[in-house]
Amino acid sequence: MTATHAFWLAGREATGETTFDVTSPWDDRLVGRVSVPTDAQVEEAVAAAYAVRDEFAATPAHVRAAALDHVSRRLAERTEEIAQLISAENGKPIKWARGEVGRAVSVFRFAAEEARRFNGGEAQRLDTDLGGQGRLAVTRRFPKGVVLGIAPFNFPLNLCAHKIAPAIAAGVPIILKPAPATPLSGLVIGELLAESELPAGSWSILPVANDRMPALVQDERLPVISFTGSEKVGYAIMDSVPRKHCTLELGGNGAAVVLADYASDEDLDWAANRIATFSNYQGGQSCISVQRVIADASVYDRLLPRVVAAVEAQVTGDPSDAATDVGPLVSEDAAKRVEAWVQEAVDAGATLLTGGKRDGASYAPTVLADVPADVTISCEEVFGPVLTLQKVDGEAAAFAAVNDSKYGLQAGVFTHDLQTAFRAHRALEVGGVVIGDVPSYRADQMPYGGAKQSGVGREGVRYAMDDYTYERVLVLTGLQL
Ligand code: SIN
Repeated sequence: MTATHAFWLAGREATGETTFDVTSPWDDRLVGRVSVPTDAQVEEAVAAAYAVRDEFAATPAHVRAAALDHVSRRLAERTEEIAQLISAENGKPIKWARGEVGRAVSVFRFAAEEARRFNGGEAQRLDTDLGGQGRLAVTRRFPKGVVLGIAPFNFPLNLCAHKIAPAIAAGVPIILKPAPATPLSGLVIGELLAESELPAGSWSILPVANDRMPALVQDERLPVISFTGSEKVGYAIMDSVPRKHCTLELGGNGAAVVLADYASDEDLDWAANRIATFSNYQGGQSCISVQRVIADASVYDRLLPRVVAAVEAQVTGDPSDAATDVGPLVSEDAAKRVEAWVQEAVDAGATLLTGGKRDGASYAPTVLADVPADVTISCEEVFGPVLTLQKVDGEAAAFAAVNDSKYGLQAGVFTHDLQTAFRAHRALEVGGVVIGDVPSYRADQMPYGGAKQSGVGREGVRYAMDDYTYERVLVLTGLQL
């Protein structure tokens, strides 16, 4: 019999009156049954978070840091079990699921470190002008209010970690909602936090269905919304609460640029392997997976067969198999959408170099060339294992091609030239530029977020802490400076 997973209401385990099933996208087997909070329980969690906000903000840093260190340690101890859970509920190959747990271990560790150094305050002398004589400004940060965190399915543990760990580090209560398709990994964080000493009410993890979210989004006791997910849903949330503080981590159609100086056999092998791997990791279901490869004409013809070979070398299949690189997408519907977009591109004249086949929720790693600029796959985020190849003449054309997108999350530029790196940093309209690697590189302490339609705000522990808080200045008078 499958055990029912409780949720976390104001720091304690609770069950509601109904449940829903979480199934594996690989073989449809039941992975877990999740208890759903009632409206009254959701209200209790929100009221508790609101009531505890001053107490939590005043909790000593060592208490919050100890809780975060504890979660980090316990995640590390339970890596294999949690990786199996991620893989089962999400379909993520086990090797990538293990990597995700490792990243969450780091996120909680970074958060513990940041909790210790956050908000020491910044002093500024004001006697630079006559009117400020004897005065000093001390600036510290204070919570904007309770955070409503809404996490996606593609990194069901680590993107929950990126919401909840910075909130605890900054002393900000949080109501976290994991994705309905993959709630089990996020609920594990609750098990570990419940072993710590944080004030009741400072955190809740509520597997609430999407159609119940508008009420929470509108709730005035939750003035900060941190959302990761689709552009459509993110902007709908922001438009529905224009006076709230919204952080939106939305889509991208990550570009990898290969420039003329990246031309040795070794260079092109490295670029092709990285492109193939990170076009397909998580089945391409990452906002920074490689979707567009933009290569200088001088290297294009040598890069293309290498990319195709490296994509064809990706091992597809059962996500629980340690050899598997690419598992299923999150659902058959998701795979059907990718199939339709590829077909649309091919019908419009694109060349299918490999892949292009669907089997249930699985979609074969796919490479397209000569893709018309106006088809869906050229304009939208594919969120599947598909990349397009584009030939350009020179650096300026390559950078223009990267920017020819409504998105701007991250870009990768394969070059050895430092001047080019700095020009890329200046020219590319994205939240992050990665030199010598794919756009998919993310270190969890870096600022992470988008320009243009890829969202607003930044995650990456300290940056989320800044986002959840605001500066409040204290002016001291009558001092001998
Ligand atoms: C995302 O899909 O936005 C997250 C990517 C990552 O954390 O590596």
